[in-house]
Amino acid sequence: MIQRPRGTFDILPEEMPYWYKIEETAREVSALYGFSEIRIPTFEATELFARGVGDTTDVVQKEMYTFTDREGRSLTLRPEGTAGVARALIENGKCSDAMPLKLFYIINCFRYEKPQAGRSREFYQYGVELFGSDSPAADATVIALANAVISRLGITGTELQVNSIGCPSCRPEYHKKLREFFAANEEKLCPTCRERLKTNPLRILDCKNEDCIKLCEGAPKVLDSLCSPCAGHFETLKKYLDASGIAYTVNPKIVRGLDYYTRTVFEFISDKIGAQSTICGGGRYDGLIKQIGGPELPGIGFAMGITRLILAMKACGSEVEEPMAPSLYIAPLGERAQLYALKLSAGLKEAGIYSECDIVGRSLKSQMKYADKIGAKYTLILGDAEIDTGRAILKNMQTGEQSEVGVSDIDALRRLLS
Ligand code: HAM
Repeated sequence: MIQRPRGTFDILPEEMPYWYKIEETAREVSALYGFSEIRIPTFEATELFARGVGDTTDVVQKEMYTFTDREGRSLTLRPEGTAGVARALIENGKCSDAMPLKLFYIINCFRYEKPQAGRSREFYQYGVELFGSDSPAADATVIALANAVISRLGITGTELQVNSIGCPSCRPEYHKKLREFFAANEEKLCPTCRERLKTNPLRILDCKNEDCIKLCEGAPKVLDSLCSPCAGHFETLKKYLDASGIAYTVNPKIVRGLDYYTRTVFEFISDKIGAQSTICGGGRYDGLIKQIGGPELPGIGFAMGITRLILAMKACGSEVEEPMAPSLYIAPLGERAQLYALKLSAGLKEAGIYSECDIVGRSLKSQMKYADKIGAKYTLILGDAEIDTGRAILKNMQTGEQSEVGVSDIDALRRLLS
């Protein structure tokens, strides 16, 4: 027995109603906010992620599925969508389009992480990216969109946490403060954080190691180190969120795991799905497009983990649409009736009626049992006599009521069934 690779999962038909609801809601709400769909390649040049996501991040250092193709090129299965979308914008000459440019995507991503509930190696994201506005109004719009999707999915008990991690002009000063703060306890930090102290001390605040968490207590807060334009941006964003009635808490510990972020960062945290509780993460990335070879163009976006959304929907008892049951089950008796039943069933499907007929040669009794099991609303038994007279008995499976109907007039049958 060959098993699926660790960290991957099959999405079985019984799970699909959740996927449909999420995808439909994502498309609907994205459209209401004026976001259009974009599809990008599953793999990209490795350098895109090294430069875009950042080569000091865990994602790039430890989690990428990287391979060399037959021509010796280094390619990587996308660990996220933002870098690919930004690349697509530059490559397709969209950076000079009318701004803002608003895009969304529903994609699978790949990260070599330790699998657990809500964390897998192949996972799915619904994400949005808004380019061409550095106004806090853009931040508020993107956050409102995420909030609307979560609430339309019937997910309650989430908390929006926001923070600002500054910009290239104020962050070096904050890095300096962090280095000074941790210097005395450097050897108590985990090996990864000792490295982070040199490359990106901000990330120490995000470490899950118990000792590092303790050492972070009392660390200087990024919000106290913002330059005045960044502080102003954050204050205005909070004002906009207040005015939109979107509840949030300021969490100075949110630093996010990807290097492209500047200023606003945010997460929606669920209290119902266990340790992997971030159902949505995002933020502003004003330097990304430039970083990967495009013009100066600000951007902000987020991505939601679809399996985490499903866990939250289930925990909240969100309603999803049940798969369609057949309106009619046709039970043919004998070869002649089988042919007639196939034609009748095809005619009904053409008229938009979901009908099934026996195709495995069951006895009449087990056909009726099967019709019941698949939830058919009506059944129709067809034998030679019914074909000769053109009339058969239609049985309502719920009430048991029976009535005689004509079987050659598809239109009349359709009216009866719908
Ligand atoms: P991220 O925080 O790395 O951000 O991922 C976004 C969301 O994807 C997470 O909050 C989580 O729900 C889900 N996710 C991440 N890794 C996994 C995993 N291994 N298994 C299951 N779900 C996972 C980004 O990817 C950014 N590109 C988001 C963004 C867009 N920022 C700006 N624009």
